[in-house]
Amino acid sequence: MIEINNVSKSYNTKGKAVDSLNITIPNGEIIGFLGPNGAGKTTTIKMITGILSADEGSIKINGIDINEKPLEAKKQFGFVPDNPDMFLRLKGIEYLNFMADIYNVSGELRKQRIDELSGRFEMTDVLGDQISSYSHGMRQKIVIMGVLVHSPSVWILDEPMTGLDPKSSFLLKEMMREHANSGKTVFFSTHVLEVAEKVCDRIAIINKGKILYYGTVHEMRNNLKTDESLEKMFLEMTENE
Ligand SMILES: Nc1ncnc2c1ncn2[C@@H]1O[C@H](COP(=O)(O)OP(=O)(O)OP(=O)(O)O)[C@@H](O)[C@H]1O
Ligand SMILES: [Mg+2]
Repeated sequence: MIEINNVSKSYNTKGKAVDSLNITIPNGEIIGFLGPNGAGKTTTIKMITGILSADEGSIKINGIDINEKPLEAKKQFGFVPDNPDMFLRLKGIEYLNFMADIYNVSGELRKQRIDELSGRFEMTDVLGDQISSYSHGMRQKIVIMGVLVHSPSVWILDEPMTGLDPKSSFLLKEMMREHANSGKTVFFSTHVLEVAEKVCDRIAIINKGKILYYGTVHEMRNNLKTDESLEKMFLEMTENE
């Protein structure tokens, strides 16, 4: 579970990137975080993960405050950032072992998980290569695998499908569903509204730092008395602002 209470953040004097945000991401559901470019999605995610601190408000992950107990809070989640270009000088396998070391995954378990993940993501043959030699999609996959290797209870992903081929993207969606069904938390941002409509139990729409809608797509249709696609409703909602 992620509890965001009255959180605001400004980068400069130009106004708030995130403005009095209040949402609770429950266990057992996939929540999609939608919004136009510059709406405040990445800023929100960076505050949840403790990369940025909020100017106001508080954020708890599984009940643990990210500012008060950052180390404890960080043990609760795995985070896939919007840009997978990191640790480029490490080999894939070195990166996975590094992540497993940080999160204290024992030797036997990590071998089992690395074998399984690299098989499923078709990365077995390239684990010995430097990440700098990987394509964008392969970098995205190794970052996702690095998160899954420590099996966090809360998944936080910033545009995780970007660059993934159809098979990997399908696999990730399937894994997200399994994770949510096992009573855990999945929170991800996306611009792909068809994906959001299909896989999310609920969506949160943010625009100019403020939440415009949080609920199911079904409820949204009922509220707006329409049978439009999520895409249409999204465009109308964010343009009317
Ligand atoms: N490092 C920064 N310095 C100054 N302003 C920033 C910085 N990062 C983001 N912003 C501003 O904060 C606002 C929200 O940006 P954010 O990156 O959170 O949007 P986003 O919803 O993730 O957008 P996108 O869909 O393009 O990824 C924007 O107005 C952006 O210009
Ligand atoms: Mg972003």
